[in-house]
Amino acid sequence: MSNLTRRSFVRQTVAFSAVAAAGGLARALAPAPDPKATHILMIGDWGWTDADGQRPVADAMAAYTKQNALKPDALFLLGDSWYGDLSGGADSPRWQSQFEQMYPASLFPGPAYSIMGNHDYQRMPHSVNKVEAELAYAKRGQSRWTQPGLWYTFDHTPAGAKDPLLHVIALDSNAPGSRVIGALDPVNFTLTANQWEQQLQWLDLELAKPTRATFRIVMGHHPIFSNGRHGDTAALVRDWEPRLSAHGVHAYLAGHDHDLQHLEFAGHPTSFVCSGAGGADLYEIRIPESQRGPFAHRVYGFTHLEATPAKLIAMKKATVRA
Ligand SMILES: [Fe+2]
Ligand SMILES: [Zn+2]
Repeated sequence: MSNLTRRSFVRQTVAFSAVAAAGGLARALAPAPDPKATHILMIGDWGWTDADGQRPVADAMAAYTKQNALKPDALFLLGDSWYGDLSGGADSPRWQSQFEQMYPASLFPGPAYSIMGNHDYQRMPHSVNKVEAELAYAKRGQSRWTQPGLWYTFDHTPAGAKDPLLHVIALDSNAPGSRVIGALDPVNFTLTANQWEQQLQWLDLELAKPTRATFRIVMGHHPIFSNGRHGDTAALVRDWEPRLSAHGVHAYLAGHDHDLQHLEFAGHPTSFVCSGAGGADLYEIRIPESQRGPFAHRVYGFTHLEATPAKLIAMKKATVRA
């Protein structure tokens, strides 16, 4: 399939207020999942210090998979996995209560691909580096938690298929300068300027590699474009957006703004999806979807990514209006 043809298949379907609220409207809007497709559920910004927001979203994900007899092929975790303290690091009990049991392997048996958010880049308590803890937890190989490095790639090839369906480039969006760090702030840190440059060079090599995958996806915690409180991310607009555009990346997946968004721009090959509503306190939308859309809502929820060789659909599944 030519690039041009493939791009035309990147579409969004909006499903609103479906799962926990059992709304008839959402049911009418949402197409039934295609049983032959690849299914991925995505959440960002989920590991809040209490589970008051996280639990209803996790329950909605569970209910949604049961109602539709789905066994998702993977979870995409879009960063800000751990807010607050992670005492014990890779041995913190939060791994069990807020990840392993919150999204049980019986319902979500596939790998959980994770990337770093700004809250993961915090030493809390001061002795615990959460970035190191997350990489260490993955390295044990005893969990679905998959995070082989700060930036990495993976393919998803459906059973029986010859070629990969998805080629995913997972990035670290914690650009130097994005936080005030140093002696005044012993908690927060970011990638160094050197690491940022290394990642950019690696990204150029990765984007230049030929792939037989139908769709190319890039994910990073900070949105490149966002209608929410944080707005567009200048470093990513400068360094990443032109590369995504030049290489025809089909979708950029992010969190960080605590809402659900799907933005498309005339002539731009990339769909910008934000799914940062996995549990942390919600943020207001500052640019209405009527101005820049098609979708921007302050609401808890997750995104269901459905893919076949002919289509890539991001369906927003919102749990509660807020
Ligand atoms: Fe966040
Ligand atoms: Zn964030």
